[in-house]
Amino acid sequence: MKLSSLLFFVLLMSLFGCSSQSQIKVLSFFFDGVPNPSREVGVHPTDTLGRKDTTAIKQTTMGKMFPRLFFHAPYKAQECSSCHDRTRMGKLNNSLPELCYQCHDDFTTKFKVLHGPVGGGQCVMCHSPHQSMNEKLLIRSGQALCLYCHNSETVLAAKEHQDIKDANCTDCHNPHGGDDRFILR
Ligand code: HEC
Ligand code: HEC
Ligand code: HEC
Ligand code: HEC
Ligand code: HEC
Repeated sequence: MKLSSLLFFVLLMSLFGCSSQSQIKVLSFFFDGVPNPSREVGVHPTDTLGRKDTTAIKQTTMGKMFPRLFFHAPYKAQECSSCHDRTRMGKLNNSLPELCYQCHDDFTTKFKVLHGPVGGGQCVMCHSPHQSMNEKLLIRSGQALCLYCHNSETVLAAKEHQDIKDANCTDCHNPHGGDDRFILR
């Protein structure tokens, strides 16, 4: 079996298989923070006759494992080959960010100034190309998305940030680019 199809199989197993320990390891490989189902004891819904409702058990378990998962459209449609080359061990078809610009607006034509990681093609420092628990496929939520790279002490000490509390940085800054170096909205 080719590596890409093997990976695909593993992925299917992790999405649709039942919750055994070995599959949880696979899930964690794709997505950190999947809770350990062995701790989720006592989920045994019954129907009106007191029989165990296996569909409900399965859905409850899946619901707990994937509280809210957002999928990238081409990934969900299993169009792996729109980004991966099956003949080259699943390597990417194109370098970043060009890969993304094949289907999305090219930010270099949209903004006068690009945010550092956007100019550097590091889209995957903020977005998962596959799936995420956060909207817009973001790999971190709230201020953590930005403070992963920006020093929180320096940023929060600046006078323009004195009163932001836990406001999203993106309330004021455009994450991709803007008119000047402060990439304000
Ligand atoms: C929109 C483009 C895109 C699609 C569609 C896509 N991938 Fe990916 N994939 C990527 C990118 C980009 C990376 C590199 C991520 C990184 O460097 O963090 C990646 C990385 C991977 C990896 C390496 C491990 C990881 O998760 O980082 C595997 C395995 C993988 N993809 C499998 C798949 C499978 C299977 C499918 C189809 C169901 C798929 N991909 C569809 C873009 C895509
Ligand atoms: C093969 C085409 C294709 C490629 C390549 C592609 N995307 Fe997408 N992407 C889509 C489609 C289709 C949507 C859904 C658009 C919509 O719903 O309006 C989408 C949606 C998104 C969204 C919004 C998700 C949401 O929940 O609203 C983000 C973020 C995104 N893509 C990032 C990326 C990044 C980063 C890359 C490069 C690693 C990439 N895309 C490459 C087709 C693609
Ligand atoms: C610093 C983090 C960061 C980087 C790097 C980044 N994005 Fe985003 N992106 C976001 C955030 C945050 C959103 C949510 C919408 C918003 O706040 O404007 C978003 C939204 C999107 C969307 C959904 C459409 C929209 O505007 O709402 C697409 C598509 C997208 N990004 C593509 C990309 C591509 C392609 C790259 C690389 C060239 C990239 N992003 C790099 C943070 C980032
Ligand atoms: C992957 C690392 C990374 C992430 C994540 C990131 N940034 Fe940046 N950011 C940079 C780099 C690199 C620069 C350019 C170098 C510099 O000026 O410090 C930059 C520059 C900036 C600047 C301009 C600074 C200046 O003095 O001109 C602002 C504003 C900014 N980022 C805001 C944000 C916001 C808001 C987020 C979250 C949506 C974010 N950044 C997430 C790496 C990152
Ligand atoms: C209430 C709006 C607002 C919010 C929220 C906000 N910023 Fe800013 N930010 C600004 C303004 C205004 C400037 C300064 C622009 C200027 O000097 O002209 C700035 C400047 C910056 C700069 C460059 C100068 C410096 O102080 O280092 C960085 C980096 C930055 N912001 C990152 C962030 C990050 C990360 C967050 C989230 C933790 C954030 N900002 C939240 C409005 C905001």
